[in-house]
Amino acid sequence: MKILRTITEIRATVQAARAEHRTVGLVPTMGAFHEGHLSLMREARAHNDLVVVSLFVNPTQFAANEDLSTYPRDEARDAALAEAEGVDVLFAPEPSEVYPDGFATTVHVAGITEVLDGASRGIHHFDGVATVVIKLFGIVRPDVAYFGQKDAQQVLVVRRVVRDLNLDVRIEACPIVREADGLAMSSRNVYLDPDARAQATALSRALDAAHAVHDAGARDAAVIRTAALEVLDGAGISPEYLELRDAETLEPVATTRNDTLLAVAARVGAARLIDNHTLRGDA
Ligand code: PAF
Repeated sequence: MKILRTITEIRATVQAARAEHRTVGLVPTMGAFHEGHLSLMREARAHNDLVVVSLFVNPTQFAANEDLSTYPRDEARDAALAEAEGVDVLFAPEPSEVYPDGFATTVHVAGITEVLDGASRGIHHFDGVATVVIKLFGIVRPDVAYFGQKDAQQVLVVRRVVRDLNLDVRIEACPIVREADGLAMSSRNVYLDPDARAQATALSRALDAAHAVHDAGARDAAVIRTAALEVLDGAGISPEYLELRDAETLEPVATTRNDTLLAVAARVGAARLIDNHTLRGDA
């Protein structure tokens, strides 16, 4: 596996592959790999000739009060894990390579970025995500890019940018990977001390409880939400948000006739965690 740091190098590598009609899969990441990332790499490996993983802790998607400086970083460990998955190239640029002096462009997706994590973390968050992802697409020019469904809103934002800007890349969203007790895997789980780690299982239990109520026939969003809230209350967790929204438009829903995203974010100990389920519609 090659580790490349410059746009010139990665472009040359991808262009050489394209000249041989090889397909290119990209897994954009911020490192601190866990099974969720590795599942994306496996999917990319299974379906592409050249697999590129980008490792870049993108400063523009963090607010000033967030964990940019403490975000877990261990490139040597990440490189070993990626290599073991058969990744061909780890693209790990410096911030100055991605954002050189004079950088002045921001990609903003209206509407769907203003709710859920956009409301909680601030509008800059998805501007930062959309901008860096479009830059990565421009640099690597993949045929397919792989994202985790844990960041369901991020997947919608990326799909919308690709559609609106007519970008020639297919977006694959891969299932959430969970610990044995249900906790969604996240690089931020390392912030959890043992008590918080135990408490954090309430997020997936809350979603399971709401999902069970939906599966039992409930369609009233308030009823479904209450089932999840009871579990969070029982664990002493007050969510930043716990919402049911249309799975495509992110409009709030009162009844779950169409596919509905049930999404939660909460601070547990030192970590801010997110999780979600999709409740399948009747149609
Ligand atoms: O999901 C992430 O790790 C990041 O938001 C991404 C897509 C790599 C952009 O920085």
